[in-house]
Amino acid sequence: IDPTLDLFAEIERLKKEKNAIILAHYYQEPDIQDIADYIGDSLGLSQEAAKTDASLIVFAGVHFMAETAKILSPGKKVLLPDVKAGCSLADSCPPHLFRKFKEKYPDHLVITYVNCTAELKALSDIVCTSTNAVQIVESLPADQKIIFGPDKNLGAYVAKKTGRDLVLWNGACMVHEIFSQEKITRLRERHPAAKFIAHPECEEVVLQMADYVGSTTGLLKYTINSEAEEFIVATESGIIHQMEKANPGKTFIPAPPNNSCACNDCPYMKRNTLEKLYLCLKNEYPEVTVPEHIIERARVPIERMLDISA
Ligand code: 13P
Ligand code: SF4
Repeated sequence: IDPTLDLFAEIERLKKEKNAIILAHYYQEPDIQDIADYIGDSLGLSQEAAKTDASLIVFAGVHFMAETAKILSPGKKVLLPDVKAGCSLADSCPPHLFRKFKEKYPDHLVITYVNCTAELKALSDIVCTSTNAVQIVESLPADQKIIFGPDKNLGAYVAKKTGRDLVLWNGACMVHEIFSQEKITRLRERHPAAKFIAHPECEEVVLQMADYVGSTTGLLKYTINSEAEEFIVATESGIIHQMEKANPGKTFIPAPPNNSCACNDCPYMKRNTLEKLYLCLKNEYPEVTVPEHIIERARVPIERMLDISA
């Protein structure tokens, strides 16, 4: 790309020319968040993908999110700036192994966290996100047996919140598993007025320490509504861009990981860059497709989720 090219202006021009919409997750780099038409959490992004009348969706997020957009809007072209933007949590649950796992519990209903492949969604009864997982479990009869996958941390959190005994798949997100309980404790000693907020993909020991647990949208809203001036944030660091924009003067400290070489960036989310976004909009490539038979089956549990969360 010509380094003198104004990527923001070019992206705006191409968007109009192609009737395209850019949907971005809060974990995307700040430039991408700033050019997006809609920024949100997984639930908001899927609701937006279902209702858009744009012809082209550029999904600045990860592969499973673009797949969900395609399932909800199969007639539209869905582009992902970097096709290798995957997800360690989705990878931790290969569909052929999950199918065998599911066979062991024939009288259980399957709830899957949206962070999984389209093929896994096709094996599910209801999809959920971190915003509505508790609500979805509570919408089912108290004696309903449930398998919850693939995130064991979110699953354990939901089980605790609802008092239900969920059968959990043993999956996790590499970004949310690295926070150090000891380092967070030490940091809080130095910032006694700071609120500690965490995403439910974090481990139970970290969640137990939190003043607030919620999805990315939940965390953002908490920082806006709270009187506190300082926050220690246990989730991917991209969300801090929106927290700072929404809360001038407040301070946001990324929660420390257990390994000093690690950071709170998701290596998959951060594969997308403004340059790649521009190229994908220009070339309409890489495109994310989902086989027709998977779309038909995966659509049902996603739509159940959208109906329950409406
Ligand atoms: P939410 O934005 O729905 O909280 O999900 C977080 C996440 O890990 C997405 O990959
Ligand atoms: Fe997947 Fe975790 Fe990255 Fe979200 S933050 S895309 S769950 S690896």
